[in-house]
Amino acid sequence: MKAIAKAHTNIALIKYWGKRNEALILPTNNSLSLTLDGFYTSTRVVFKEDLQKDTFLLNGTRIEGEQYNRVTQFLDLVRNLAQKNIYAEVESINAVPTAAGFASSASGFAALAAASSKAIGLELSDSELSRLTRQGSGSACRSIFGGFAEWQQGEKADGSDSYAVPIAPQNHWDLRVAAVVLSAKMKKVSSRAGMKRTVETSPFFKGWIESIPSEIDAIKQGILDRDFEKVGEIAEANCLKMHATTLGANPPFTYWLDSTMSVMQSVQALRASGIPAYFTIDAGPNVKVLYLPEHEEEVQQTLRSIPGVDDVKLSCAGQGITYLGDDEFV
Ligand code: PMV
Repeated sequence: MKAIAKAHTNIALIKYWGKRNEALILPTNNSLSLTLDGFYTSTRVVFKEDLQKDTFLLNGTRIEGEQYNRVTQFLDLVRNLAQKNIYAEVESINAVPTAAGFASSASGFAALAAASSKAIGLELSDSELSRLTRQGSGSACRSIFGGFAEWQQGEKADGSDSYAVPIAPQNHWDLRVAAVVLSAKMKKVSSRAGMKRTVETSPFFKGWIESIPSEIDAIKQGILDRDFEKVGEIAEANCLKMHATTLGANPPFTYWLDSTMSVMQSVQALRASGIPAYFTIDAGPNVKVLYLPEHEEEVQQTLRSIPGVDDVKLSCAGQGITYLGDDEFV
């Protein structure tokens, strides 16, 4: 009863921002992302009859507390589905630069869902696996697939129609992403808390939700046509709209630092100088920049020269879930 799975993190081009059901993690809008090569989590799950409770090792350290609780609550879902009452040893290796503002929860829960469901003997389709993964962390349901994936919000109260579907595979388009790491730190409003406050108090939330369907249709066409300007413009506008909702919340908040704005302005200046590049930002201050391979040098140099930028990490499109042998778990 053992399996090892590897999942990559993803960056949303159309953001998931708002829940209609907190317990089941059901969103108020469709979202769309690119899975990223290079940033991943590998997880080994072994179910054993003689265990009295689950155990969780992350990068070699035994984890307790909130992080452990989220893992074991997720394993409860898997045990329920399989109708088996048996505990597991979970061991994860995380190669996600959390300092770069990538939530390791996306690759973490995707790898945990894939490894645990396989180890316990469930034979899930990709959609079933995505639906299960969603209940660990929403954005993780998109990491089941490589390349571009869309999380369809669904309509049903039980969440059975809320899961991700593939839009275009990893090799469809060589789109690149630079993750810009900023040196200043700030007190973090978690994505969970930020979404909740926005849904409950921001008058801009209604406008956000209404604007999504046409953006999703347009960006999907842009991806299929490999139309970089179209995809970049929609992604950047969608990110700005998401962040605008937080300014309307009560109490208002923002994830941006002044260095966040410097990076945004540099990206717009790059564009004005003829180099196509666009930004997107998740629930934190760091910026992700979309560009094409032929502009990698200029984009990287520009970003590294901005005051307040600590590091720039480059990535291309990544693959979906893969299952590994024991000797590949390093
Ligand atoms: O799934 P969570 O709780 O990590 O929320 C992710 C929210 C954003 O990163 C801001 C947007 C997204 O779609 O990934």
